[in-house]
Amino acid sequence: MEQYFVLWRVRPNHPYPTLLRVRAVLCLALGLALATPYASDAQPVPGPGEGPRTGFDHVLQQTSQEMLQQGQHIFRFDTFGDQAFWGDTLQLHQAIAGQTLGGVGPGVSPKTALGLGLKVDVDALPPAVVEQLQQGQVNLEDPTVTVLLLQANAVVGVTGFFQADGRLQSMGIQCALCHSQVDDALTAGIGHRLDGWANRDLNVGAIIALAPNLQPFADLLGTDQNTVRHVLTSWGPGKFDAELLLDGKAFNPYQVTNGAVTGRDVPGATLLPPAFGLAGVNLHTWTGWGSVPHWNAFVAILAMHGQGTFVDPRLTDPVQFPIAAREGFAHVQHEPDLVTSKLPALHFYQLALPAPAPPPGSFDTQAAARGATLFSGKGQCSTCHVEPIRTEPGWNLHTPEEMCIDDFQASRAPDKRYRTAPLNGLWTHTTGGFYHDGRFPTLLAVVAHYNTCFSLDLTAQEETDLVEYLKSLPASSASGH
Ligand code: HEC
Ligand code: HEC
Repeated sequence: MEQYFVLWRVRPNHPYPTLLRVRAVLCLALGLALATPYASDAQPVPGPGEGPRTGFDHVLQQTSQEMLQQGQHIFRFDTFGDQAFWGDTLQLHQAIAGQTLGGVGPGVSPKTALGLGLKVDVDALPPAVVEQLQQGQVNLEDPTVTVLLLQANAVVGVTGFFQADGRLQSMGIQCALCHSQVDDALTAGIGHRLDGWANRDLNVGAIIALAPNLQPFADLLGTDQNTVRHVLTSWGPGKFDAELLLDGKAFNPYQVTNGAVTGRDVPGATLLPPAFGLAGVNLHTWTGWGSVPHWNAFVAILAMHGQGTFVDPRLTDPVQFPIAAREGFAHVQHEPDLVTSKLPALHFYQLALPAPAPPPGSFDTQAAARGATLFSGKGQCSTCHVEPIRTEPGWNLHTPEEMCIDDFQASRAPDKRYRTAPLNGLWTHTTGGFYHDGRFPTLLAVVAHYNTCFSLDLTAQEETDLVEYLKSLPASSASGH
């Protein structure tokens, strides 16, 4: 749309050469010609507080709507062809179905699935089933019911693929698996989708460990399947290790906090972060791997094992990423590419996901107001967690030394640093702890850590005030923040 910019810059008495002005007039004519069909045959959509939109504004409005819808669909339902890995190769669907349904083992009952943190989308269930669930008439101990839930496409982040006779043939996973919750409207684990909310109940490792065939992991890691199972089950709920298949580092030998060893052989998995509230944030992931679309492509190809293209030459470093370098993960190309065409809408959708406001009454408003003052004052928090995005506008990374913690996870990413976590919506992920590996069980522990690390001299009262403020984020404008 270069012509629009040209037009805007040409003003009366402007010293531009005549040729440019002629071009501008031609562009105006062209712009009008292009705009006319949209203005005449489509319903203009009024924006908030504005008159009807016409011309390019209308195109914009329409594109946004389409991108939002497409992005949501991809986020919730697209497997990027990863069923070739999770189902066809690892045979995870066999473990879900169980022996009686033609699979292996006891099968995964809905009770077990919910216990593993999987969520059920109530809006995908037929009304009769919702009613039966309400009346306790569904046998939650029966793996057949799990398969029926998959058939209804009601298991958040998991898609079943079925044979003509209704038998489970394969399964794939989606972004929503780790980055969605439900509101428990029907019962614990069954409700309406909450896209972008980190699923801290989900035991990713335990789910993968159910797969009858873990040989592909064993081959990549140069070990046996039992060791792979041991690593997977070490993660616990709410965690995943996105770097394991790059460097093979499964455990942090020494977790160090403020100069003291606070853990030995701590699983290398990181907490599942929210995928909301990321608009305006430069670098993503705990260690700042890159932008949202960089990471989306990374995760779709290297973590979910989808089919597509991924390019990141930093992965050719044989010292930092021995497995990735050996396997050529720096340059992955599959035909057909089921990922790249989806990156724009997926990106758009994620940036549109807001960090949700905390429920009223979930924090002490007066303490939070005092905490707000401390956050930007004595606590020095806003020097890094800059309002309102709560991370640095710009290059938002810090060395492990600055944060007074060990470099294990930082050293597994190209910049060898930790990313300033965008704090909005903290109240949605209070289980599993805080900081990349969840080393701080509570927000108070985080604040106490800063008190020591930065010698802030905060009183106990000031610490709890800061905690109440953290619980209030994204704070309403009423508090001035
Ligand atoms: C198996 C669980 C899992 C799945 C599936 C998954 N992610 Fe993630 N996601 C993670 C983990 C763990 C991290 C943190 C990784 C790190 O810091 O090394 C993460 C990080 C992110 C981030 C960075 C968040 C931030 O705070 O900057 C975004 C964005 C993201 N994921 C989007 C996606 C999208 C889009 C998909 C689907 C293509 C997806 N994820 C699939 C587990 C998952
Ligand atoms: C020097 C920059 C810096 C300062 C100053 C700073 N933080 Fe942080 N903050 C970070 C980084 C980096 C992380 C991520 C650490 C990690 O993932 O291991 C983080 C993480 C957090 C988290 C955990 C978020 C999560 O999702 O687990 C909280 C809470 C937090 N900071 C609150 C504060 C408060 C309160 C203050 C002021 C007392 C503060 N921060 C000062 C850089 C900073």
